Amino acid sequence: MLTAVVDEALRTYGKETALLRVLPENRYNRRMFPAQGQYDWFSGQALYCLVRHLRPRQVVEISCANGYSSLFMALALRENASGVLETFELSAKNARGAQENFRRFGVEACVRLHVGDARRTVREIPLEKTGLLFLDSLHSEAFARWYLETLLPRLEARVPVHIHDILPPRARVRHFHGPPFRGGWTVSWLYRAAVRLLRPGQFEHTRIPAGAVRAHNGRLAYDGNHFAEARFLNCLVERLVPGDYAYLYDLADRYPELGPRDFDRQAVGRKNADDQPMEWNESLWCYAGPLTAAYRAVEVGAAAAAVTSPAETRA
Ligand SMILES: C[S@@+](CC[C@H](N)C(=O)[O-])C[C@H]1O[C@@H](n2cnc3c(N)ncnc32)[C@H](O)[C@@H]1O
Repeated sequence: MLTAVVDEALRTYGKETALLRVLPENRYNRRMFPAQGQYDWFSGQALYCLVRHLRPRQVVEISCANGYSSLFMALALRENASGVLETFELSAKNARGAQENFRRFGVEACVRLHVGDARRTVREIPLEKTGLLFLDSLHSEAFARWYLETLLPRLEARVPVHIHDILPPRARVRHFHGPPFRGGWTVSWLYRAAVRLLRPGQFEHTRIPAGAVRAHNGRLAYDGNHFAEARFLNCLVERLVPGDYAYLYDLADRYPELGPRDFDRQAVGRKNADDQPMEWNESLWCYAGPLTAAYRAVEVGAAAAAVTSPAETRA
C-alpha cells in the first residue's frame, strides 16, 4: 500500500523535517528562487521522508527550475549518505539558479544537473537504476504521454512516481486570479489574455467546462485540475486499485504533529472552498508498474474503439 509507505516514512522521519523549514520560509524569496519554487510544505515533508525511508540509489527529477523541490530530495540523500539526484531542466537560466542553490545548501555532491530538453537529455543516465521518479515539468497531455511511454516502462514496477499539479477530482478549491474567476470580468479577461500571450503552450485551463465553476451560488465544483496532464492522469488513476496511489491533498491533515498547515497563510494563488488561503498539496504518488498498465489499457481501448467504430457506423 503506497499510503502505508508514505505513512511509515512520515512517522519515522517526520521529526527531521523541522530542519527544512528554511525552505518554505524562503519559497517566495525571489533572490533565492527567482522562478518561484512551487512545492507545498507537507508535500516537501513527505518527499524528504520518502527519500530517507526508501534510500534510493538514484532519484530522477524532471524538472527542477531553481531547485526548490530538488532540495527536499537532495537534503534527504545527504542525510542518507548514499544515492544521487539526477535532475533535468530545460531553461539554462533556471538551471544556473538551481546550481547556486545546491551550493548554498551544501548538496552539490548529491546532485547531477542536466540542462536541455529532458526528452533528449534523459538518455544521459541509466534510467533502470531509478528508485524514485519526481515529475513536475510541462503539464500537457503530450508530455505525460512521453513519460508514460518512455520513462515509466523502464522502471521497476514498485518504484514510486510523483506527479505534481494533480488533485483528486473530488477536491473543492478556489484559485485567485484563476478559475473560479472571482475578480469580475475585467480581472479574469485580462488574466486570461496575459497568460495566452505569455505562456501559450500552457494555457490549457481555458478548457475547464464553464459548468464546473459556480463560485457564487454555494455549489463550488472546481477541483483545481487546470492542466491537461492532470485530467489525463486522473483518468488513469480511476483504473488503479487504492493501494497503488495516494493524493497528498487527502493526507495533509492526518499529521498535525508535523505542522503540515504551518505555511497555508502564505499560499499564493491557492484557497480552500471557504475562500481561505490553503496549500493544496497537489501531488499524486503512484507506482510505476500499475500506472504504465493503466496507460496501456486506455491506449488499447482507444485503438480498439477506433477500429470498431467505422464498422459500427456502417451497421
Ligand atoms: C513547474 S516548474 C518546476 C518547479 C520545480 N519542481 C520547483 O520545485 O520549483 C517546470 C519546469 O519545467 C521546465 N521544463 C519545461 N519543459 C521541459 C523539458 N522539455 N525538459 C526539461 N525541463 C522542462 C521549465 O523550464 C520549468 O523550469
